[in-house]
Amino acid sequence: MSVPTVFFSGGAGFIASHTIPILLERGYRVRIFDNMLRGDRAMVEELAATGMVDLVEQDVRYGGAVQNAMKGCTHAIHFATVSINKSIADPYESIDINVTGNHNVFAAAADHGVKRLVFASSASVYGDPEKLPMHEDDRLDPLTPYCISKRMGEDLLGFYQRTKGLSWLALRFFNVYGEGQKIEAYYTSVINTFLRRIRTGEPPVIDGRGEQSMDFVHVRDIARAVVSALESERDNMPINIGTGIDTSIAQLAKILIAAVGVDMEAQFNPRDVLVSRRAADINRAREVLGWEPAVSVEQGMAELVRNAR
Ligand SMILES: NC(=O)c1ccc[n+]([C@@H]2O[C@H](COP(=O)([O-])OP(=O)(O)OC[C@H]3O[C@@H](n4cnc5c(N)ncnc54)[C@H](O)[C@@H]3O)[C@@H](O)[C@H]2O)c1
Repeated sequence: MSVPTVFFSGGAGFIASHTIPILLERGYRVRIFDNMLRGDRAMVEELAATGMVDLVEQDVRYGGAVQNAMKGCTHAIHFATVSINKSIADPYESIDINVTGNHNVFAAAADHGVKRLVFASSASVYGDPEKLPMHEDDRLDPLTPYCISKRMGEDLLGFYQRTKGLSWLALRFFNVYGEGQKIEAYYTSVINTFLRRIRTGEPPVIDGRGEQSMDFVHVRDIARAVVSALESERDNMPINIGTGIDTSIAQLAKILIAAVGVDMEAQFNPRDVLVSRRAADINRAREVLGWEPAVSVEQGMAELVRNAR
């Protein structure tokens, strides 16, 4: 029997760097499809040295290149994207990569009859939630080209399921963090901003009362969810991947101060801020993927601080 092979767009990026080692452990070959604009070349070379990983340095905007690279692949993971903030600055590029690119990958996966496609969707498809925890069936209200393209991606997967029998799962990642993340990452930049100040002996500064919250989920937990989604028996639905716990900005500051091990209090900068909150309902992930987050925010942040020393 031939070795199962995963087409992995965006496979040279942050979350992929934690996912590919698990795929290799489980006996998959991996074909990274990445234009390397943000990819980690040293990481790719290290993985390629195993003989089980190859790199197709190409762009998801080119349908022909995607079709070629999909040949011989039994599974697909689609991560290639441009981020939220870039999508606001340049909607044209965002629509090109995140809409045409999504379509190219989904169409090729359907044409080549892959067993499963896993799509990185995002909690941002919900917009500002009306209630917590956020459930997959809640109203979607994507606000930026990036979020709109994630929602559209989920809808397009439905189209290829109905017309060509594509089997898919869309994982709505919440606020991913962990080692290897680029510092300008939209949601989690607050971690780096706080840490920089704490390390230089200055307290983190919080606008308002620090009530806005995020559902921080560690990248190792995300990576396990991706592999479970590639192999699960059930398919064709979106699934939240978070911890279910909303951590406020004020709590985050406390957790980071404790992780660095200094004696200080955050400073509050009184002003009106729009309080947005986030927490995932993760019952579907438990039921469909048999997945459970394993890294608490306290553990994950402590590890981040230790490794960055
Ligand atoms: N990190 C998070 O907090 C988060 C949250 C929700 C969803 N997601 C989604 O998870 C996926 C992976 O995120 P990440 O944090 O690993 O991102 P990342 O930026 O580290 O990786 C993305 C990779 O895609 C590649 N890429 C970009 N444009 C491309 C193109 N046109 N053609 C080919 N390759 C291209 C980049 O070079 C990079 O290696 C993305 O789809 C992202 O939207 C991430």
